[in-house]
Amino acid sequence: MATRKLMDFGWKFHLGDIPLPEGHCLADYVKTASGNMPAVLKDYDDSNWINVDLPHDFVIAGNIQPPDIILGQRQRRQLLIDMDMKAHMHAGHGSLPGGIGWYRKSFYIPNELEGQRIILEFDGVFRNSSLWLNRHLLGGQSSGYVPFRLDITDQLNYGEENLLAVRVDAREYEGWWYEGGGIYRHVWLTTSDTLHLVPDGIHVRCLFENDDYDHVKIRINSEVGNRADSTESAVLESVVIDPDGREIGRAESSLIALPEDIIVAEHSMELIQPTLWSDIEPKMHKLVTRIRRMDGSLADEVETHFGIRNIRFDAEQGFIINGRQLKIKGVCCHQDHAGVGVAVPDKLLEYRIGLLKDMGCNAYRMAHHTPSPELLQICDKLGMFVMAENRLLSNVPEIREDLTAMIRRYRNHPSVVIWSLGNEEMDIQGNVTGERITRSLRRLVKTLDPDRPVTLAMNGDWGQGATHAVDVQSCNYYRLGDVDSLHRQMPNLPIVISEATCATTTRGVYNNDLVRGWADAYGEQLPFWGHTPEENWKMTMERPFVAGAFIWTGFDYHGEPAPYIWAGYVSNFGIMDLCGFPKDSYYYYLAWWSDKKVLHVFPHWNWPGQEGKPIDIKCYSNCASVELFLNGSSLGIQQMPPWGQLNWNVTYQPGELVAKGYDSDGREELVAKIKTTNAPASIRMTSNCDYIHSDCEDVVVIQVEVIDAAGHIVPDADSDIVFYIEGPGVVIGVGNGDPYTSERDKFYTEGIGEMISHWPKPVPAVDAQRTARRRVFKGLCQLILQATAESGLIRIMANSPGLPSAEIHIMADQADCRQWEVT
Ligand code: GAL
Repeated sequence: MATRKLMDFGWKFHLGDIPLPEGHCLADYVKTASGNMPAVLKDYDDSNWINVDLPHDFVIAGNIQPPDIILGQRQRRQLLIDMDMKAHMHAGHGSLPGGIGWYRKSFYIPNELEGQRIILEFDGVFRNSSLWLNRHLLGGQSSGYVPFRLDITDQLNYGEENLLAVRVDAREYEGWWYEGGGIYRHVWLTTSDTLHLVPDGIHVRCLFENDDYDHVKIRINSEVGNRADSTESAVLESVVIDPDGREIGRAESSLIALPEDIIVAEHSMELIQPTLWSDIEPKMHKLVTRIRRMDGSLADEVETHFGIRNIRFDAEQGFIINGRQLKIKGVCCHQDHAGVGVAVPDKLLEYRIGLLKDMGCNAYRMAHHTPSPELLQICDKLGMFVMAENRLLSNVPEIREDLTAMIRRYRNHPSVVIWSLGNEEMDIQGNVTGERITRSLRRLVKTLDPDRPVTLAMNGDWGQGATHAVDVQSCNYYRLGDVDSLHRQMPNLPIVISEATCATTTRGVYNNDLVRGWADAYGEQLPFWGHTPEENWKMTMERPFVAGAFIWTGFDYHGEPAPYIWAGYVSNFGIMDLCGFPKDSYYYYLAWWSDKKVLHVFPHWNWPGQEGKPIDIKCYSNCASVELFLNGSSLGIQQMPPWGQLNWNVTYQPGELVAKGYDSDGREELVAKIKTTNAPASIRMTSNCDYIHSDCEDVVVIQVEVIDAAGHIVPDADSDIVFYIEGPGVVIGVGNGDPYTSERDKFYTEGIGEMISHWPKPVPAVDAQRTARRRVFKGLCQLILQATAESGLIRIMANSPGLPSAEIHIMADQADCRQWEVT
């Protein structure tokens, strides 16, 4: 019977390469079937390697360096930004050096599995990985984004320990953003019979006719493989289960498979009044596929989760799901988060997508590479549309394989609504070569998935080259072309804005600071191709033919600290910062994208020394009008334009700024207050959840605030905080969203010993897993807590010079998940 086990735990890691023995060259390891490289041998002494669990990003644990050091190692894309600062945006690993790393894992395979087909599945390794099992070269994957599988049936030692060695070379990069390094996504070990369902070989299509949503035809293609020496006769069964767990469809057929055959069997069924999947009600169906031998014994069983929905991009009406037209309110995102880099645990990923969903965002563009399987599972579950993107627009065999892997693996996810072949291929997107390559790749995609549109994100050249070969034109930035004339020129071509705004803002900052790499949060610091959030959304809403827009970006990310260079090392493009703390522009989107009533006034009201001077006040709201008061006196009432924002210029005096939001009949709907705060008085910690599952994977996100005596966050607080964890939890990262910092995301424990010596309570020696240090930035920082295998109470204590210590408790409940770990 088929099994799938997580292989995330108990790895050994070494940073740096392992020198080759005398007289050997790299070809000895890479070109021959059997390696002699020391680190691939079982008896190699790895006792001084560190113990790690996956996901793991070794780059994020490095020391931040001025970019010149890294510049020497890499070629960098330099972009001149036409802003006041006339600065260069620098790219790459966010001033963190890449490098080579080695991983080893030993695991036991029982004798009973001999005769089964055993496969290792890597969801993603950044990058250029080579793998050996019991010193046999298995192969590798050069892209750091593409999930891959390796059949290890023949190289395994049954009834014995096995040694898997992985070399990762993250010296080169694939993009111009922070990409991390290491085995940063899950690893799985799957077993199946020799008569088996081919991985990613099941494809479920949901076909509607004439917008009749009461009937759907389900067409299932299943690939059955035979790795035995003899011909097999079998029965293939497909069972469809609805979101409530009821069986609603079943089909069966018999087949004969010769050795090494892959048979494609088709089952069809019609469902009446199916429960539909959508962004509002993301209801998932399940297909259970079984293959039985003629004696009735089960050879393989696979569950495929899918959603029944109909999507369409229309040249006049934009995006339509299940007959309902809606605007794509999207964001582009890279993968990294504060504290953990690209090794984002599933729960943290779900937390991030949840933050976007709460903001009213309904679409996610995975910029600019293949997403992880977990990302799409979460988007299916939360009802988030996805533009899934291939890294490069190229027709060479390797890239065709990468594209094929992405489509085959992800074509059953209802969240994926469009395939993107790549991003900003400036050399070819507008010419005939680009058109030919796009046409060839589109043809390939259609053979694997005839139902989804194919696009290419182009920064200009719209109407030329690749435009003639796509189903939907994706335009990066309104300013880089003319969407109206494109629509006139090609009235049958649907259009979506695949990158928009590009406004640079730093949370809680209201003056540009060239030295620290901070951009003010008013949302008007733009590169020449950018627009303010308001300009962009107005243009999108005023054009029914535009399907919607993907804002660059949902969250800040390491690298690309535009509009600055060193010592900024994090981008400023996010609607939320690197921790997911909202910047002011978040409330613009909350107001115009979500169903919530919103009234947000900014900046803060702490301007010592600025008494009598004018301060720019902005308001994001969806109230019909807003009135502003300073210390009880009205500063006037203003009508809110559609998709607009309001501005006041207020002479500063300490006290209280109050905004009142009224509906169209002038009735008061909302009140927002900003007070001049007093000095920091204490630390407040809150968490996104008060329990954690003790499965070594679960995480809880802890928000840390420095507040005054009245409980208001002190907007300019920068207190240095030391954390100590007691009980069954570990800290896997800390962050504060500051794009300029010399504090490392991980294992930043310098000086902790001295700081904790003043604690009221003695604590054990500094331990990178249980102690952490981080300054709050503009009043906030974040700690990411991960579960261990034990249950019990976790106490997180925070201390900062001059402030009373604070504590928060998380309960680790019993979870049995280690049973599916491979040991
Ligand atoms: C786009 C590019 C993105 C990012 C952005 C910054 O041109 O596609 O990856 O670099 O510019 O403005």
